[in-house]
Amino acid sequence: MAMQRFVIEGGKKLAGTVRISGAKNSALPIIAASILTDKKVVLENVPDLIDVRTMIELISYLGAKVDFRKNTLTIHAPHIKRIDAPYDIVRRMRASYYVLGALVAREKKAHVSFPGGCAIGPRPIDLHIKGLEMIGTTVDIADGYINARARALRGREVNIQGPKGTSVGATINVMIAATRARGVTKIAPAACEPEVVDVANFLNAMGCSVAGHGTHTIIVHGRSSMSGVLYRIIPDRIEAGTFVVTAAMNRGDVTLEHCRPDHLKSVLDVLKETGATFTIGHDTLRIQGAKAMKPVNIFVAPYPGFPTDMQSQFMAFLSIVPGTSTIKETIFENRFMQAVELMRMGARITIEGDTAVIHGVRRLSGAILMASDLRASAALVLAGLVAKGRTVVRRIYHLDRGYEQFEQKLRSLGAHIKRQSE
Ligand code: EPZ
Repeated sequence: MAMQRFVIEGGKKLAGTVRISGAKNSALPIIAASILTDKKVVLENVPDLIDVRTMIELISYLGAKVDFRKNTLTIHAPHIKRIDAPYDIVRRMRASYYVLGALVAREKKAHVSFPGGCAIGPRPIDLHIKGLEMIGTTVDIADGYINARARALRGREVNIQGPKGTSVGATINVMIAATRARGVTKIAPAACEPEVVDVANFLNAMGCSVAGHGTHTIIVHGRSSMSGVLYRIIPDRIEAGTFVVTAAMNRGDVTLEHCRPDHLKSVLDVLKETGATFTIGHDTLRIQGAKAMKPVNIFVAPYPGFPTDMQSQFMAFLSIVPGTSTIKETIFENRFMQAVELMRMGARITIEGDTAVIHGVRRLSGAILMASDLRASAALVLAGLVAKGRTVVRRIYHLDRGYEQFEQKLRSLGAHIKRQSE
């Protein structure tokens, strides 16, 4: 497929209603965990994204029968035919590593390509491996592949805290594997992101016994069989957050539907400090941007702290908020790549170690920009929407990995954005 780009004419007022899609980062592990059972699994509210398509391709390769239409995904894996996740698929999407836990649980063996680093810094998976080893898996690494075997998985107490704290991915992978272990597995400290909770709720709906999800201690009682299930994926809090920031930046008036405002508390707290106002419903959220905006200091932290997946978009926003703001990124080492591109639009940003210092300018001006990773790409689009003149964002395939119908949704709010082939 030819490379694509967005062409944006900035300065259009955003107003209206937008429907939030299902969460990418819970859909991916839930699709992988669907191969735990030989019964039929039906997932609703599955976002149609490149990453989701890649995960579907992977479980089909493993032997699952799959049908995906209108955001409903049906998965049936009576037999697992292969136990390997090839390099060609894993290199496209790191989250392929979720089949490791599922295959070890169901087949007692897995052969998964080692994911590399990525644009946002080194992304080790040592904690996933450590956790699986602790419950009885033997792991060796050869020829760029992780070879995992388990004669019998045994529940026990698992501590998979790393230098950066808990890991979302490792918590989920061990939780998935532990559903088939003999005895009780206790993961502590566990990550408590809403996506971890969603996977746990899915596993329980399938007949597993997981408790404590949403806290820092997760308890899994192993079971030998599982049932089929109909399950609905939670709304994507990062997509919702991205639209909320767009509205605040644009001084717009936007209402989100089918969202979970309770998952956005830290993001909304920061936006409130900048002056934006909200009307919070049960699954709706209206945001009205403020005329006069105030600078803020953001500290990224695991949930319920401020999400790393939202800091790029806030950097774009804060670059036009008068005064000096800061963002301290504590989770990934190299996640300020949007800064240099924003500076090409006139933003004044300096990076000192893990902290970005942003001096607000009156306005950004349109430029030709290169997207680097998913959330950084979103940040550049947000900047283009408020900039004077035309902005071109190149390499938007990053964005297509994680935002469903992004430009259509923005256009429905009044944005001038179109997709072109390069
Ligand atoms: C998930 O990544 C998300 N991805 C990321 O979203 C998100 O930024 C991240 O959680 C943090 O919230 C998916 O869910 C698919 P971690 P994950 O393991 O699970 C270190 C997006 O844009 N670590 O919680 O990979 C790691 O390097 C993506 O949608 C180890 O040291 O994140 C990081 O510093 C980007 N060893 C920290 O822990 C390990 O074995 C937290 O990472 C695993 C992680």
